[in-house]
Amino acid sequence: MAQLWGGRFTKDTDQLVYDFNASIRFDKRLLPQDIQGSIAHVKMLKKQKILSDSEGETIRAALEQILQDVRDGVLEITDSYEDVHSFVEAVLTERIGEAGKKLHTGRSRNDQVATDMKLYVREEIEQIDGLLYTLLNAVEKIIEDNTGTYMPGFTHLQKAQPVTAAHHFGAYFEMFRRDRERLADIRKRMNTCPLGAGALAGTTYPLDRAYTAELLEFDAPSANSMDAVSDRDYLLETLFALSVIQMHMSRSCEEICIWNSDDYRYVEIDDSYSTGSSIMPQKKNPDIAELIRGKTGRVYGALIQMLTTMKGLPLAYNKDMQEDKELSFDAIDTVCSCIRLYTGMLSTMCFRKDILRRAAVQGFTNATDAADYLVGKGIPFRDAHAVTGRIVLSCLEKGCAIDDLSLDEMKEFSEAFEEDIYEALKLETCADRRNTAGGPGTDAMKEMIRQNQAYLEESKC
Ligand code: ARG
Repeated sequence: MAQLWGGRFTKDTDQLVYDFNASIRFDKRLLPQDIQGSIAHVKMLKKQKILSDSEGETIRAALEQILQDVRDGVLEITDSYEDVHSFVEAVLTERIGEAGKKLHTGRSRNDQVATDMKLYVREEIEQIDGLLYTLLNAVEKIIEDNTGTYMPGFTHLQKAQPVTAAHHFGAYFEMFRRDRERLADIRKRMNTCPLGAGALAGTTYPLDRAYTAELLEFDAPSANSMDAVSDRDYLLETLFALSVIQMHMSRSCEEICIWNSDDYRYVEIDDSYSTGSSIMPQKKNPDIAELIRGKTGRVYGALIQMLTTMKGLPLAYNKDMQEDKELSFDAIDTVCSCIRLYTGMLSTMCFRKDILRRAAVQGFTNATDAADYLVGKGIPFRDAHAVTGRIVLSCLEKGCAIDDLSLDEMKEFSEAFEEDIYEALKLETCADRRNTAGGPGTDAMKEMIRQNQAYLEESKC
């Protein structure tokens, strides 16, 4: 048991208590951030003459060496330390003696861990942003390759109106773009430095918090020392943003599972992204899409767990907050791997254009256009809707499509029908001419592609 405290205790910690309390098992992941924060703290202590130049330099060099040694596998972070902070201080003191014990001057593990976590989350936000950027490029490729891939658009999972696969994936482009914006917004808001807040009430040492903040590339020191050590809002916001990213991927994965099924066969997931069955030789399962959908619950869980952990905490630091780590690490790891896998699955997935096209013309997806046609001939929309409804009913009985009816048959429902109805009901007309901004029409899609390309260019990472 290596502890940073013990002076006021007369008994050793019970082993079970020690194990229960320790966080080294999971917070060792924060070693690079802990060292980074400590180096900034030491530089500041040196600048403020709280440490001598030589002490500061010795500590800094030793801290860098510790990180290097762990990376090289020469030094192991074992479970015999309470947490990553204790590990660093213990090794430091072992290696450089007395000077090592001065590292913690004017600092508490409370502002230290708050800083470590912020540095970590900030890096991860950047990583996830990069992954989303790659994903958006993959989605954009699907869009550009599939402007002529007609497919049914759905509401209530019932065929509604024809769209294109390009338009459908254009919707996901918007979602993932908003996800990036959300992360950027969080990164901006969270960028204040807790270091120097001490345990909760600052310190009497003449710390230069602005300098430490600058060294760690924060915009400013956090304004209130109690808030600095108690705030986990940015984690909650990040977990929410991650939940939304997962939810977006999950909706798409649900669609892919449906589209990839035997009864639809709209798409075919590549062999390299599918799995087989141990008993049924014919099976090719969409396990990756299902797993991404499944792991969404896990990320939501982290958000709810963290909200619940925080809701009853009096100011300032409470040990409950240590619970922020495992679940955040897990959520971040999960989302990163899901984005990677989802990107790979999408990029290799094949669209069965012929089947999609057939599906797009079935199910009366041109019924709205039939009604719109009548409106064009001067019939009020509500009446046109009723007439078309009756046509659909009769087609259902006959087992045919609207445009299978002869002009005479159509005229039985409305005298307004003329020969040009067939042109109006064609798939190309129904989809390509829906050119309201944001629609699947040819011109609207050209504009959307132009905007997407401009966005990808200006938001490169
Ligand atoms: N392992 C702790 C955490 O993650 C570090 C801070 C400990 N502070 C304390 N006052 N016990 O929150």
